[in-house]
Amino acid sequence: MTGPLFEDIDRYVGTLFDLSDPALDAALSAASQAGLPDIQVSPALGKFLYILARMAGARRILEIGTLAGYSTIWLARALPPGGRLTTLEYNPGHADVARANIEGAGFGAQVEVLTGAALDTLPALAEREDPPYDMAFLDADKNNYPAYLEWSLRLVRPGGVIVADNVVREGRVLDAGSADPVIRGVRAFNEALAGDERVDATILQTVGEKGHDGIAIAVIRD
Ligand code: SAH
Ligand code: DHB
Ligand code: MG
Repeated sequence: MTGPLFEDIDRYVGTLFDLSDPALDAALSAASQAGLPDIQVSPALGKFLYILARMAGARRILEIGTLAGYSTIWLARALPPGGRLTTLEYNPGHADVARANIEGAGFGAQVEVLTGAALDTLPALAEREDPPYDMAFLDADKNNYPAYLEWSLRLVRPGGVIVADNVVREGRVLDAGSADPVIRGVRAFNEALAGDERVDATILQTVGEKGHDGIAIAVIRD
Protein backbone atom coordinates (compact mmCIF):
# COMPACT_ATOMS: atom_id res chain seq x y z
CA MET A 1 0.00 0.00 0.00
CA THR A 2 2.97 2.30 0.17
CA GLY A 3 5.47 2.90 -2.52
CA PRO A 4 7.42 5.31 -4.62
CA LEU A 5 4.33 6.98 -6.09
CA PHE A 6 2.98 8.10 -2.71
CA GLU A 7 6.43 9.33 -1.68
CA ASP A 8 6.83 11.12 -5.00
CA ILE A 9 3.50 12.84 -4.43
CA ASP A 10 4.59 13.95 -0.95
CA ARG A 11 7.73 15.43 -2.50
CA TYR A 12 5.64 17.07 -5.23
CA VAL A 13 3.38 18.66 -2.61
CA GLY A 14 6.36 19.71 -0.51
CA THR A 15 8.03 21.41 -3.45
CA LEU A 16 4.85 22.94 -4.86
CA PHE A 17 3.79 24.50 -1.57
CA ASP A 18 7.33 25.20 -0.37
CA LEU A 19 6.96 23.19 2.83
CA SER A 20 10.52 23.43 4.06
CA ASP A 21 12.51 26.39 5.31
CA PRO A 22 15.66 26.94 7.42
CA ALA A 23 13.93 26.60 10.81
CA LEU A 24 12.12 23.38 9.89
CA ASP A 25 15.22 21.95 8.19
CA ALA A 26 17.34 22.80 11.23
CA ALA A 27 14.82 21.07 13.50
CA LEU A 28 14.94 17.90 11.39
CA SER A 29 18.76 17.95 11.22
CA ALA A 30 19.07 18.42 14.97
CA ALA A 31 16.65 15.54 15.55
CA SER A 32 18.64 13.30 13.23
CA GLN A 33 21.99 14.37 14.76
CA ALA A 34 20.65 13.54 18.22
CA GLY A 35 19.56 10.10 17.03
CA LEU A 36 15.84 10.72 17.51
CA PRO A 37 13.46 8.47 15.55
CA ASP A 38 12.29 9.85 12.20
CA ILE A 39 8.60 9.77 13.15
CA GLN A 40 7.55 13.42 13.04
CA VAL A 41 4.62 14.37 10.84
CA SER A 42 5.33 14.85 7.13
CA PRO A 43 5.69 18.41 5.83
CA ALA A 44 2.27 18.14 4.19
CA LEU A 45 0.67 17.02 7.46
CA GLY A 46 2.53 19.74 9.36
CA LYS A 47 1.05 22.31 7.00
CA PHE A 48 -2.35 20.67 7.41
CA LEU A 49 -2.10 21.05 11.20
CA TYR A 50 -1.10 24.69 10.74
CA ILE A 51 -4.13 25.31 8.51
CA LEU A 52 -6.47 23.56 10.95
CA ALA A 53 -5.17 25.71 13.81
CA ARG A 54 -5.69 28.83 11.70
CA MET A 55 -9.21 27.70 10.73
CA ALA A 56 -10.01 27.07 14.40
CA GLY A 57 -8.70 30.51 15.32
CA ALA A 58 -6.55 28.75 17.88
CA ARG A 59 -4.92 31.05 20.43
CA ARG A 60 -4.04 28.25 22.82
CA ILE A 61 -2.84 24.84 21.62
CA LEU A 62 -2.05 21.66 23.56
CA GLU A 63 0.24 19.04 22.02
CA ILE A 64 0.86 15.63 23.57
CA GLY A 65 4.08 14.12 22.17
CA THR A 66 6.74 16.68 21.19
CA LEU A 67 9.67 14.62 19.88
CA ALA A 68 11.98 17.29 18.34
CA GLY A 69 9.32 19.97 18.06
CA TYR A 70 8.73 19.69 14.31
CA SER A 71 4.92 19.56 14.54
CA THR A 72 5.17 22.06 17.42
CA ILE A 73 6.80 24.62 15.12
CA TRP A 74 4.10 24.17 12.48
CA LEU A 75 1.37 24.64 15.11
CA ALA A 76 3.13 27.58 16.79
CA ARG A 77 3.26 29.39 13.47
CA ALA A 78 -0.54 29.42 13.43
CA LEU A 79 -0.77 31.28 16.75
CA PRO A 80 -1.72 34.94 16.80
CA PRO A 81 0.46 37.39 18.77
CA GLY A 82 0.06 36.52 22.45
CA GLY A 83 -0.97 32.94 21.60
CA ARG A 84 0.46 30.05 23.62
CA LEU A 85 1.31 26.41 22.99
CA THR A 86 1.95 23.78 25.66
CA THR A 87 3.64 20.57 24.50
CA LEU A 88 4.15 17.47 26.66
CA GLU A 89 7.15 15.15 26.24
CA TYR A 90 8.15 12.13 28.32
CA ASN A 91 11.75 11.79 27.16
CA PRO A 92 14.04 14.51 28.64
CA GLY A 93 16.50 14.13 25.74
CA HIS A 94 13.71 14.72 23.21
CA ALA A 95 12.51 17.70 25.25
CA ASP A 96 16.01 19.26 25.20
CA VAL A 97 16.27 18.91 21.41
CA ALA A 98 12.75 20.28 21.04
CA ARG A 99 13.38 23.33 23.26
CA ALA A 100 16.45 24.25 21.20
CA ASN A 101 14.54 23.78 17.92
CA ILE A 102 11.56 25.80 19.14
CA GLU A 103 13.85 28.57 20.34
CA GLY A 104 15.66 28.50 17.00
CA ALA A 105 12.35 28.87 15.19
CA GLY A 106 11.58 31.98 17.25
CA PHE A 107 8.92 30.54 19.58
CA GLY A 108 10.87 30.31 22.83
CA ALA A 109 8.51 32.78 24.51
CA GLN A 110 5.24 31.33 23.22
CA VAL A 111 5.86 27.60 23.64
CA GLU A 112 6.46 25.64 26.83
CA VAL A 113 7.76 22.07 26.75
CA LEU A 114 6.72 20.17 29.88
CA THR A 115 8.87 17.11 30.57
CA GLY A 116 7.25 14.01 32.03
CA ALA A 117 4.67 11.38 31.25
CA ALA A 118 1.66 13.26 29.92
CA LEU A 119 -0.67 11.51 32.36
CA ASP A 120 1.46 13.07 35.12
CA THR A 121 1.63 16.59 33.62
CA LEU A 122 -1.98 16.87 32.39
CA PRO A 123 -3.49 17.07 35.90
CA ALA A 124 -1.25 20.08 36.62
CA LEU A 125 -2.52 21.77 33.45
CA ALA A 126 -6.10 21.21 34.58
CA GLU A 127 -5.25 22.87 37.90
CA ARG A 128 -4.09 26.06 36.19
CA GLU A 129 -6.55 28.93 36.14
CA ASP A 130 -5.90 29.47 32.44
CA PRO A 131 -8.49 29.77 29.67
CA PRO A 132 -9.26 26.45 27.95
CA TYR A 133 -7.32 25.30 24.91
CA ASP A 134 -8.72 25.78 21.41
CA MET A 135 -7.00 22.76 19.91
CA ALA A 136 -5.30 19.56 21.04
CA PHE A 137 -2.94 17.45 18.92
CA LEU A 138 -2.41 13.91 20.23
CA ASP A 139 0.75 12.20 19.04
CA ALA A 140 2.36 10.43 22.04
CA ASP A 141 2.14 6.82 23.26
CA LYS A 142 -0.83 5.26 21.47
CA ASN A 143 -1.83 2.96 24.35
CA ASN A 144 -2.83 6.05 26.31
CA TYR A 145 -4.85 7.68 23.51
CA PRO A 146 -8.19 6.90 25.21
CA ALA A 147 -7.02 8.75 28.35
CA TYR A 148 -5.67 11.62 26.22
CA LEU A 149 -9.09 11.92 24.60
CA GLU A 150 -10.70 12.35 28.02
CA TRP A 151 -8.13 14.95 29.04
CA SER A 152 -8.56 16.81 25.75
CA LEU A 153 -12.31 16.91 26.23
CA ARG A 154 -11.71 18.41 29.65
CA LEU A 155 -9.10 20.96 28.54
CA VAL A 156 -10.38 22.08 25.10
CA ARG A 157 -13.33 24.49 24.81
CA PRO A 158 -16.62 23.72 23.10
CA GLY A 159 -16.13 24.45 19.40
CA GLY A 160 -12.48 23.52 19.73
CA VAL A 161 -10.64 20.87 17.75
CA ILE A 162 -8.98 17.56 18.66
CA VAL A 163 -6.63 15.88 16.18
CA ALA A 164 -4.89 12.54 16.73
CA ASP A 165 -2.08 11.14 14.59
CA ASN A 166 -1.43 7.50 13.66
CA VAL A 167 -4.91 6.04 14.00
CA VAL A 168 -4.71 3.66 11.00
CA ARG A 169 -1.22 2.14 11.30
CA GLU A 170 -0.99 0.55 7.86
CA GLY A 171 -4.42 -0.96 8.35
CA ARG A 172 -3.50 -2.87 11.49
CA VAL A 173 -6.33 -0.92 13.15
CA LEU A 174 -8.71 -3.41 11.53
CA ASP A 175 -7.34 -6.26 13.66
CA ALA A 176 -9.87 -6.54 16.49
CA GLY A 177 -7.88 -9.40 18.01
CA SER A 178 -4.54 -7.62 18.07
CA ALA A 179 -2.51 -8.03 21.25
CA ASP A 180 -0.32 -5.02 20.34
CA PRO A 181 -0.94 -2.27 22.92
CA VAL A 182 -0.54 0.35 20.18
CA ILE A 183 -3.32 -1.18 18.06
CA ARG A 184 -5.50 -1.83 21.09
CA GLY A 185 -5.03 1.78 22.22
CA VAL A 186 -5.75 3.21 18.80
CA ARG A 187 -8.84 1.00 18.36
CA ALA A 188 -10.15 1.97 21.79
CA PHE A 189 -9.52 5.64 21.00
CA ASN A 190 -11.26 5.45 17.62
CA GLU A 191 -14.26 3.69 19.14
CA ALA A 192 -14.47 6.14 22.04
CA LEU A 193 -14.26 9.08 19.63
CA ALA A 194 -16.90 7.62 17.34
CA GLY A 195 -19.27 6.93 20.21
CA ASP A 196 -18.80 10.20 22.10
CA GLU A 197 -21.79 12.52 21.86
CA ARG A 198 -19.61 15.47 22.85
CA VAL A 199 -17.87 15.49 19.45
CA ASP A 200 -18.36 15.30 15.70
CA ALA A 201 -15.45 13.31 14.32
CA THR A 202 -14.01 11.35 11.43
CA ILE A 203 -10.77 9.73 10.28
CA LEU A 204 -8.76 10.62 7.19
CA GLN A 205 -6.28 8.10 5.79
CA THR A 206 -2.86 9.39 4.90
CA VAL A 207 -0.22 7.96 2.57
CA GLY A 208 3.20 9.23 1.64
CA GLU A 209 6.71 9.34 3.02
CA LYS A 210 5.47 8.11 6.43
CA GLY A 211 3.68 5.10 4.97
CA HIS A 212 -0.04 4.37 5.26
CA ASP A 213 -1.64 5.86 8.34
CA GLY A 214 -4.42 8.24 9.29
CA ILE A 215 -5.48 11.13 11.46
CA ALA A 216 -8.62 11.48 13.51
CA ILE A 217 -10.18 14.92 13.56
CA ALA A 218 -12.93 16.07 15.88
CA VAL A 219 -14.77 19.26 16.76
CA ILE A 220 -16.27 19.57 20.23
CA ARG A 221 -19.99 20.30 20.18
CA ASP A 222 -21.20 23.48 21.84
N1 SAH B 1 4.49 15.35 17.36
C1 SAH B 1 5.86 15.03 16.93
C2 SAH B 1 6.12 13.54 16.96
C3 SAH B 1 5.88 12.90 18.31
S1 SAH B 1 6.56 11.26 18.37
C4 SAH B 1 6.02 15.55 15.51
O1 SAH B 1 5.19 15.22 14.66
O2 SAH B 1 6.99 16.29 15.24
C5 SAH B 1 5.94 10.73 19.91
C6 SAH B 1 6.62 11.39 21.13
O3 SAH B 1 5.82 11.08 22.27
C7 SAH B 1 8.02 10.86 21.41
O4 SAH B 1 8.95 11.93 21.54
C8 SAH B 1 7.88 10.14 22.75
O5 SAH B 1 9.01 10.25 23.59
C9 SAH B 1 6.69 10.88 23.36
N2 SAH B 1 6.01 10.12 24.40
C10 SAH B 1 5.90 8.78 24.53
N3 SAH B 1 5.22 8.45 25.64
C11 SAH B 1 4.87 9.62 26.22
C12 SAH B 1 4.14 9.97 27.39
N4 SAH B 1 3.64 9.03 28.19
N5 SAH B 1 3.96 11.28 27.68
C13 SAH B 1 4.46 12.23 26.85
N6 SAH B 1 5.17 11.97 25.74
C14 SAH B 1 5.36 10.69 25.42
C1 DHB C 1 5.39 6.16 15.73
C2 DHB C 1 4.87 7.22 16.45
C3 DHB C 1 4.36 8.31 15.77
O1 DHB C 1 3.81 9.38 16.43
C4 DHB C 1 4.37 8.35 14.39
O2 DHB C 1 3.86 9.43 13.77
C5 DHB C 1 4.88 7.29 13.68
C6 DHB C 1 5.41 6.20 14.35
C7 DHB C 1 5.96 5.00 16.43
O3 DHB C 1 6.02 5.03 17.67
O4 DHB C 1 6.35 4.06 15.76
MG1 MG D 1 2.66 10.59 15.00
